[in-house]
Amino acid sequence: MYYNIYFSPTGGTKKVADILAGNLVGDFTEVDLCRDINPMELTADDVCLISVPSFGGRVPAVNVERLRKMNGNGARAILNCVYGNRHWDDTLTELQDVLEDQGFVCVAAIAAVAEHSIFRQFATGRPDEEDTKQLIEFAKQIRQKLDAGSADRPKLAGSHGTYKEYNGAPYKPEANDDCTLCGLCAKECPVAAINLDNPKVTDKEACISCMRCISLCPVHARDLDAELLKTRGEAIAPHLSGRKENYLFL
Ligand SMILES: Cc1cc2nc3c(=O)[nH]c(=O)nc-3n(C[C@H](O)[C@H](O)[C@H](O)COP(=O)(O)O)c2cc1C
Ligand code: SF4
Ligand code: SF4
Repeated sequence: MYYNIYFSPTGGTKKVADILAGNLVGDFTEVDLCRDINPMELTADDVCLISVPSFGGRVPAVNVERLRKMNGNGARAILNCVYGNRHWDDTLTELQDVLEDQGFVCVAAIAAVAEHSIFRQFATGRPDEEDTKQLIEFAKQIRQKLDAGSADRPKLAGSHGTYKEYNGAPYKPEANDDCTLCGLCAKECPVAAINLDNPKVTDKEACISCMRCISLCPVHARDLDAELLKTRGEAIAPHLSGRKENYLFL
């Protein structure tokens, strides 16, 4: 079986995953890591496209927890890290380490750009038409490798075993007066940081700054501190400007 396994709080990672999945083989079973999952036993006949965004150059910790509920049993994995126009640092190597530990055989990896989910002024609108063409070409090359039966381990950019330190981000969304208390954000928060009984209350320690609640709120009633967003956005602009590339590792 083919699996499309993804963590995509605001949809950018899923866009890249869907382009790849749609051009790899036929039907994929989807597994959404925004929700907790039951333990999964895979087999050597399975192929899993596993997509995560880079958060601070790392695999989001909640993904590591959920991926550790899967036993690969020799299933082949295609790793897909989506980054917001700065860099993915150790995201792919960390993902490879976790998956190999869980018994997957990693056969290919991609680092692809999507719009930055906090600072929307960077990589706006990506993946775009040019990205789509490139991702389709990547899928073709991965398919050839799968068809040839090759399980050669791709050599990835990034370090194994010890990773870039990441202690979370200071961007914690809060509900404003437009909130209708519909509860959607609380239901959809990947780490249950929003109070189900009163969605105006957010546990800032638990919040991983994924921006899912902001992107899903039907009345746009959740925001970040505008001043923080402005000053941080200006400070990081030199690192996030210009068009960054997509990469394939085979
Ligand atoms: C908390 C957080 C940390 C991030 N850290 C990085 C980073 O280190 N490098 C980078 O290029 N993009 C970074 N991004 C941008 C995301 O990787 C990118 O926007 C990705 O597409 C988000 O996935 P999604 O659209 O599926 O939610 C970060 C985004 C968030 C929310
Ligand atoms: S989704 Fe929006 S309106 Fe609904 S509870 Fe959350 S903040 Fe309030
Ligand atoms: S409260 Fe934090 S963790 Fe939960 S959806 Fe919003 S940004 Fe993500």
